[in-house]
Amino acid sequence: MAFKKIAIAGASGYLGRKILDHLLTIPIVSRVTVLTHSPLADFPSSPILTVISIPSYRAVAALTLALQGHELLISALSRLSADETDEFLIAAAIAAGVRRYMPSEYTVDCMHPHAIAVSGSTVIAGKIASAQRVQHSAEKGEIEYTTLVTGAFLDFWFEYPNPIIDTNAKTITLLDGGEKKMTGVTTEFVARCIGAIVAMPEESTNNQRIRIAEVEYTGKALLQTFEEVTNEKWTVVDRSTDEILNEAVKAGGKGDMRGFYMGNIIKLNFDGEGAGYFEEGMEWLDGAVKRQSLKEIVERSISRLNW
Ligand SMILES: NC(=O)c1ccc[n+]([C@@H]2O[C@H](COP(=O)([O-])OP(=O)(O)OC[C@H]3O[C@@H](n4cnc5c(N)ncnc54)[C@H](OP(=O)(O)O)[C@@H]3O)[C@@H](O)[C@H]2O)c1
Repeated sequence: MAFKKIAIAGASGYLGRKILDHLLTIPIVSRVTVLTHSPLADFPSSPILTVISIPSYRAVAALTLALQGHELLISALSRLSADETDEFLIAAAIAAGVRRYMPSEYTVDCMHPHAIAVSGSTVIAGKIASAQRVQHSAEKGEIEYTTLVTGAFLDFWFEYPNPIIDTNAKTITLLDGGEKKMTGVTTEFVARCIGAIVAMPEESTNNQRIRIAEVEYTGKALLQTFEEVTNEKWTVVDRSTDEILNEAVKAGGKGDMRGFYMGNIIKLNFDGEGAGYFEEGMEWLDGAVKRQSLKEIVERSISRLNW
């Protein structure tokens, strides 16, 4: 059986909007309900779409009412809001009889020993708590889960300001020599994977953490691709992920929590130690879900930035 009646939280966001747009194209989906703080956001118009205003995710009774009759709840809430509200969202889903929950994880593999050792008590603690919560609920037979473990959103890293890739200044930081293998995804690919999960037999994705990958690359391959696509020489900065992590810890000590977060997440996504490199993710649904090449991903980001 596939999921036909779907609720989504965070659909007005960067990832959530891509998921919502894709859900509305899937023929078997008969009902999509957006739970939102921003009911006036520019949601698409569709006869199967309902937008429900949720003033607070802590109001579990109201949330339960909104979730009744749905088979799948997808969370695409922002990192901090998901950390704060996941327990209420899953409680309401269970109370409403929703069969399957997809938590807003979408990051490094937070259950990987390396991720736990580096950042388990800090920036990924909320993701770990959410992963454990949904696993415990599934063990008790309260709800099923499917979690997508994505590693880096490359479109996000190419298009938004961050310490290692500056597409406007054409500067890239080669981490740890630039030869380690990495994997990544685009948010469009994540949306397509969720679409595939919605349509495929439920048993094949039941109670699983699925590590997905759209493209495998190295820092040097990325530099070469940026230079090829922009037809310009890029400035290269050589740094180690350990150095970046150390600086992040110092930044955190001075209250710069964004710097602390970014340094931790750069370390885990790009140090090649397994929390952000999912070799097997390249095989998942191979041929059934469209994967872009690194060049196509870079071209699309550069064209969006030049728009
Ligand atoms: N792997 C990567 O490289 C990467 C990069 C970015 C994000 N992510 C992950 O992807 C997921 C989605 O992130 P995103 O960047 O798409 O999120 P986002 O655009 O910042 O926010 C998503 C939605 O969350 C809701 N929201 C925001 N702040 C809130 C608050 N204080 N309380 C309640 N709801 C709030 C809003 O929805 P409404 O207004 O509609 O309620 C918002 O549109 C997160 O799990 C994040 O960690 C991963």
